[in-house]
Amino acid sequence: MLKLCRNRRHGWILNRSGSRAVCAVSGQESLNRGYAMEQYAIKGGNPLVGEVEIGGAKNAALAILAAATMTDETVLIENLPDVRDTKVLIQAMESIGVIVNRIDRHTVKINASHIHDLTIEDDYIKKIRASYYLLGALLGKYRKAEVSLPGGCNIGLRPIDQHIKGFRALGANVRIEHGLIITEAEELRGNHIYLDVVSVGATINVMMAAAMATGKTTIENAAKEPHVVDLANFLNSMGADIKGAGTDVIRIKGVAKLHGSEYTIIPDQIEAGTFMFAAAVTKGDVTVKNVIPKHLESISAKLLEIGCEVEESDDAVRVVAAKPLGHTHVKTLPYPGFPTDMQPQIVVALGLSTGTSIVTESIFENRFKYVDELTRMGANIKVEGNTAIIDGAERYTGASITAPDLRAGAALVIAGLAAEGVSVVDDIKFIERGYEDFHIKLQSLGAQIDKVNTERELQKFKLKVG
Ligand code: EPZ
Repeated sequence: MLKLCRNRRHGWILNRSGSRAVCAVSGQESLNRGYAMEQYAIKGGNPLVGEVEIGGAKNAALAILAAATMTDETVLIENLPDVRDTKVLIQAMESIGVIVNRIDRHTVKINASHIHDLTIEDDYIKKIRASYYLLGALLGKYRKAEVSLPGGCNIGLRPIDQHIKGFRALGANVRIEHGLIITEAEELRGNHIYLDVVSVGATINVMMAAAMATGKTTIENAAKEPHVVDLANFLNSMGADIKGAGTDVIRIKGVAKLHGSEYTIIPDQIEAGTFMFAAAVTKGDVTVKNVIPKHLESISAKLLEIGCEVEESDDAVRVVAAKPLGHTHVKTLPYPGFPTDMQPQIVVALGLSTGTSIVTESIFENRFKYVDELTRMGANIKVEGNTAIIDGAERYTGASITAPDLRAGAALVIAGLAAEGVSVVDDIKFIERGYEDFHIKLQSLGAQIDKVNTERELQKFKLKVG
């Protein structure tokens, strides 16, 4: 079997001195002279007003892209978000022989009939969690796969024991060697699998492998997130036989072959929720369009509780924040509970509310790392274990802050939009993993935000905003 070599077209490659980077995607070179990364410069104080179009769901897209490798026929995927994580996964797929044709920014045609390698060992792919979806997809189709142990946002321990348990239950051998997860099976046989924790990733991975196993599989205590349902719908559109996705028992009858399909990815629940909270925090009036309001129920419910008006229509939700924000208590839970991916955004809002709020993080143990940054902007938050106790402050003030991960990064941008004065957010590469054109969409709602590359650009921004 061929071993994958790092492809120079894929990502930034630093030379030994670390002074020159080659952008493999664009083929351009850039010299890092002192200013190593892009930042967001924000002048707070403007209420966000207007309409914003929500893109395809990143976490559904990642699963669906991987699943598209399970057929030799061509698959057309629409409403694909153009974000860093999907680009990285596509590059990994291309590196094993999958042909991906971009029809336009949000549409790709995928043909996986010429896969020449089942090993995905790439420095960049390690950085995205969803790289491990290629395990379930390739194991299902080829009975073998080797993928670098995944990374992803640094929000907690993130074990993969439930994925391994599921693959083993289907008859696969799984071992971890030299940083790779290696899984292979003579034959994959359907089985009854009870997941010990509700895991989106394990549900998705096991569902993909079981879709092409022999016989019936039942996944109990399955995750019910919208992207789990979207993947099941996509696999079914390719000829799989999956029932019960969206409930905690998923029943799968394995099929020998999957065929081509045309599929549109659902809207991103978390991107929508982030803009809804941006409206709340900036005392704005924002309509998020191209959404499925049902997926936003737990988010809308909390916004109503803290005093916002929320109007739903068929495929849009309008949030108006005319009154001061009130306090509330929140516990993150698997869907349909309040999403962990919205926890930093609601904390930013509660940090400006009247009264004391308690936010309990029950999914990831290390997801309050951004609180130090928010404190530097004037928030009164005490973290004890997995609980944040928030005493609402009157205002935030602009500061230089660092995005510790994707969702916390987006939440800090929102804090900056509400703060007095200028904020500079570092490490926006995390935000770009999951938000397409974040600053451009915010600008269209009246936000004063720019992406800056150099100290000079930052000074120019400061002069512009006064
Ligand atoms: C998915 O991560 C999402 N990522 C995350 O989105 C999201 O925060 C998370 O689900 C929860 O909704 C993708 O879809 C690519 P889990 P995943 O397996 O699948 C424990 C974002 O910002 N667990 O549902 O990794 C785990 O430690 C991101 O877009 C095990 O114990 O999450 C956690 O406590 C970040 N063993 C809980 O389950 C396992 O084998 C839920 O994790 C697997 C998970």
